[in-house]
Amino acid sequence: MTDQVHIFDTTLRDGEQSPGCSMTTPEKLRVARALVEMGADIIEAGFPIASEGDFQAVRAVCREFPSARVAALARAVPIDIDRAAASLDGHPAPRIHCFIATSEIHLRYKFNKGQDQILDEAVAAVEQARRFVDDVEFSAEDATRTDMDYLCRVCVAAADAGASVVNIPDTVGFMTPDDYAERIGQVVGALDGRAEVSVHTHDDLGLAVANAIASLSAGARQIECALNGIGERAGNCSLEEVVAIMMVRPDRVPFHCGIDAEKLYGASRILTECITFGPQPNKAIVGRNAFAHEAGIHQDGYLKHHTTYEIMTPQSVGVPSSQLVLGKHSGRHALHQRVEDLGYGSLDRREIRTVYRAFTALADTRKGLTDQDIVRLLEDLGFRTVGTPVAAQA
Ligand code: KIV
Ligand code: ZN
Repeated sequence: MTDQVHIFDTTLRDGEQSPGCSMTTPEKLRVARALVEMGADIIEAGFPIASEGDFQAVRAVCREFPSARVAALARAVPIDIDRAAASLDGHPAPRIHCFIATSEIHLRYKFNKGQDQILDEAVAAVEQARRFVDDVEFSAEDATRTDMDYLCRVCVAAADAGASVVNIPDTVGFMTPDDYAERIGQVVGALDGRAEVSVHTHDDLGLAVANAIASLSAGARQIECALNGIGERAGNCSLEEVVAIMMVRPDRVPFHCGIDAEKLYGASRILTECITFGPQPNKAIVGRNAFAHEAGIHQDGYLKHHTTYEIMTPQSVGVPSSQLVLGKHSGRHALHQRVEDLGYGSLDRREIRTVYRAFTALADTRKGLTDQDIVRLLEDLGFRTVGTPVAAQA
């Protein structure tokens, strides 16, 4: 089995359908460009039946990026599949992604239908989609709360009907890594090479990334994910975290993907500009604090060697630099470094003591000191610049 993992990005579909994340077509094109440039394998551009705007956005992504593989989502119903096919029409690498729920809960409360009927509808949907395109993905919605034997039967039937990718969504974020890996292993075994197995995880228990990563050793070879981890409810598996894990831990996660990790931060910023919120400050990889150090012990270690407190360089994921944030936990080493960077030269021990005392008194009363605060403090103590400040830190 290959160690190559396909990155299927759903920022523009599952991500976009969550509160505060809807995007106009020009915004979707901006995000799509970032995804294409970073090397995403498949871009799910929208759910064409949902609205005229979504349909037009998928068309625009197809027009603008002829060399990208573009997917459009459809329920397993004829009008959805016709609409998805129309949105992708003329594109050289189209994928129709059709889905139907398979769990007992959804069958009873959502559809009021039996297992055999749902299986027939899944097969009919894949067959219809195959009449338009060669590349069809089938998703068993709520797969992780579906009876295992039935799930395997549906997956095999979908593959036999022509699906080249079978996706096992943890729609409600219910899985733990071992549980998910076990299920994926069973589906991989049942499919026996008929189709690639994909994983699609949600973060309701904060395990979306862990679950997706755990599925790889069980045989999954496509991960569905979104920039900044946006998506329904608590979000989807975060693209940047999955990529960074493969980059930082090849010893435990020996898989590769085609993403240029140095483009991660830029893409995250573009998405933030297109929706109504950015990643939480302490979000791994792309959050404001992901490479920021405030504690004195950490700052001192970092200044001696960055590997003491960083497992990857910020540049390796496109973040311009680490930051030493000056606050009440900071130490003399970092403060002295900042004083030098601000152009006040090297201070002797007595001067550092004086500045540090004034600094900690100020830091006790404030939540984060800016360079302007430090300059004011130095000037008030009678210090004057002796050189040119290096680039100011935020
Ligand atoms: O979470 C889910 O089940 C989905 C499917 C449509 C793939 O987003
Ligand atoms: Zn989803």
